[in-house]
Amino acid sequence: MSAPAQKGTVYLVGAGPGDPELMTVRAARLLATADVVLHDDLVPDEIIALANPHALVTSVGKRCGRPRITQAGIHELMIDSARRELSVVRLKSGDPLVFGRAAEELNALREAGIPAEVVPGVSAIFAAGAALQLPLTDRRTSSKLILIAGQHAADKSAPPPLWAGPLPEDATLAIYMPGRDLTALASELAANGVAADMPCVAISCAATPRQRADAATLQNFGLVEPGPAPVLVLVGRAMAPMLKKAADDSAVHALIQEASAALAEQ
Ligand SMILES: C[S@@+](CC[C@H](N)C(=O)[O-])C[C@H]1O[C@@H](n2cnc3c(N)ncnc32)[C@H](O)[C@@H]1O
Repeated sequence: MSAPAQKGTVYLVGAGPGDPELMTVRAARLLATADVVLHDDLVPDEIIALANPHALVTSVGKRCGRPRITQAGIHELMIDSARRELSVVRLKSGDPLVFGRAAEELNALREAGIPAEVVPGVSAIFAAGAALQLPLTDRRTSSKLILIAGQHAADKSAPPPLWAGPLPEDATLAIYMPGRDLTALASELAANGVAADMPCVAISCAATPRQRADAATLQNFGLVEPGPAPVLVLVGRAMAPMLKKAADDSAVHALIQEASAALAEQ
């Protein structure tokens, strides 16, 4: 059994994609013993329910760009709580070091002289691959993994392009925070040289009971309506089995429709 949360320490903990079973033992132990829990919006209730029943639990999330508490406010909460000799879990979805503002938070803790520990979590890319049973690399087609943030920090007036220059053909791209407009995303990828027949997948709520995945080639990806947030987009030849599955599903759907129409006519 790992050590419980220590007084005066801040733990940046990865909660994984949303399924409590996919948390690390260390994450669960810290959550069950910390005095203060500061969590992002993407962390579901099932995971918050595992917090120490006496903990002060606060959501400090910023959903869809609507700030609820500033980043400086989060730093202040973590530092004040630790200075009061409380143990603090800063709980983030997925892995805390992937698109999680951990650089700013660790910096603030270092400057304030507060001891910190980082506990890794299952990032959305790995949860999605596992949930779809899709290897993210394949030595025949895909030997690189590229993680990209589709939406950038809200304080940047002119967001930089998704990617500058041609994208490698032998890569699997994971686009976090892709936004709802897959037409714009597909056009940007095409403008960066991604082939029209490149398999693309939008997976919503990966590794949760609400999971939904839609697949299309890049040229048709703009027609896909992604499921509810959070959504991750995966692009690359390694996603090809999803296209076959989508084609099989729609063939089965067409057969069922044909059979019901024939029955209705009888
Ligand atoms: C602020 S980023 C945090 C990423 C997180 N640190 C990680 O490692 O997964 C939030 C984005 O992660 C992705 N994401 C997180 N959980 C997800 C899930 N269960 N299913 C699909 N995408 C997810 C979505 O792209 C979402 O917009």
